Amino acid sequence: MKINKVRDKNHNQSSPNPHNKVRGVLMKKILGKKFFQLLKGIGQIAQRESLTAYLVGGPVRDLLLGMQQNGTYGGKDLDIVVSAGREITKNTAINLAKELFQIWSPHPPAGEAGQKEVKFRVHQHFGTATILFPGLQIDFAFSRKEKYAYPGALPEVAPGNIEDDLYRRDFTINSLAMELNPDNFGELLDLTGGENDLKKGLIHVLHRKSFLDDPTRILRAARFAGRYNFQIEKKTLVWLKEAIKKNVFSTISRERFREEMITILKEKNFVSCINLLSSWGGLDFLSPSIHWETIQTSNFKLQTFGGDWLVNLLLLIKNLNYMQSEDVARRMVLTREERKVILETKKHLPKVLQALRKNYPLDYIYRYFTLLPEQGIIHLEVSNPRWENIIATFHRRKNKARAVINGENLKKLGFKPGPIYKKILERIYQEKIVGNLPINLPKKKIKEKEIKFVTKHFALA
Ligand code: CTP
Repeated sequence: MKINKVRDKNHNQSSPNPHNKVRGVLMKKILGKKFFQLLKGIGQIAQRESLTAYLVGGPVRDLLLGMQQNGTYGGKDLDIVVSAGREITKNTAINLAKELFQIWSPHPPAGEAGQKEVKFRVHQHFGTATILFPGLQIDFAFSRKEKYAYPGALPEVAPGNIEDDLYRRDFTINSLAMELNPDNFGELLDLTGGENDLKKGLIHVLHRKSFLDDPTRILRAARFAGRYNFQIEKKTLVWLKEAIKKNVFSTISRERFREEMITILKEKNFVSCINLLSSWGGLDFLSPSIHWETIQTSNFKLQTFGGDWLVNLLLLIKNLNYMQSEDVARRMVLTREERKVILETKKHLPKVLQALRKNYPLDYIYRYFTLLPEQGIIHLEVSNPRWENIIATFHRRKNKARAVINGENLKKLGFKPGPIYKKILERIYQEKIVGNLPINLPKKKIKEKEIKFVTKHFALA
């Protein structure tokens, strides 16, 4: 790939660059005044310390996309890289972040002024620092170069210049930097043609071994292509498919695979990302039994109800049985709670589906629904529009199904405090869901009915 090492042609150290000025005005408009001032503040501190600060990676990509498209900034977090013409120490970025924190913590750029939650975290070992304003995270690092000891290894990191830092990245659209120092504020450092690829809508790796060095980039390629509706550049696609054929996912830890997979499942447009992965054979590592067919549902539904990544995982493994799902849970190192959601759904779903398909009476169906975790019910609703009404009614009932009576009432009825209380209240909840106890009467009436139900169905010890 041709690498454009020439900095902005118009750039001239001694006179301000008109091109940058235009960027500055646009940036202010897109980012908002406070955000913009914060970036300027970072540059001012850097310049005072004879350093250069850059906004890098995702935020630059999203800023440029915002300029090209609708004039809004889609990103949330800011990544800052600090560089110096001289030898850099591990504390360089940390010290700059500390100064910024002291200046800005009384007036956070997001949230209420003076809110206590502004936090400062230092990761001494990595030479990085994070400022957490309410609703905005800023990460600081020194510019670095990376070397991979073997495919899939975590990279060995050493201080480097900003060019090294950009060349170590995944895609051209993510290896962009924007200078923040006052002299060159807003100047784009684009060594790999990222701005052009952004315009063309291309995901483009920087070299042929990129996916072997870091196989998570396969998942990231699907994520960015799905998110922005971008194409994978021709050679990139060849290298990506070659890497999948070599089973590269087996060279990384399950935790790294898990993390990127979950990030995909959290994407708004996760269906497009999965479509791509599936077309490349990139889901086989998760389970060769997955037969992904794009789910027939509206985006509105997916975003409103499928916001939980576990719902989306259930949609992804819709055709897998209990045992195959156990394998997926292992591959994705699911926690005990996450595993329970997946496996309880798989365990009870056949009964629920049978009840639905055979038109069992509603109270039967609702009883089965109560066996499913919430995510299990939602995934059913998202993927089967024909049961939408039944599930919507179930949810309405469920929201109002908490018992009106409480422990005090049970005590007055003569029940000795103990596990029986939980059992009774749970039973009332179930009966309200299936419609055997009312949910829509005045509270006093509901309470009377519940008390009558308890005295009829539970004996005093
Ligand atoms: N990066 C990389 N290779 C990876 C992970 C990250 O090169 N495997 C680089 C990219 O330059 C990326 C930056 O690190 O832009 C930050 O990564 P991350 O926060 O994961 O992604 P963002 O690009 O910020 O994307 P998002 O909008 O999803 O946060």
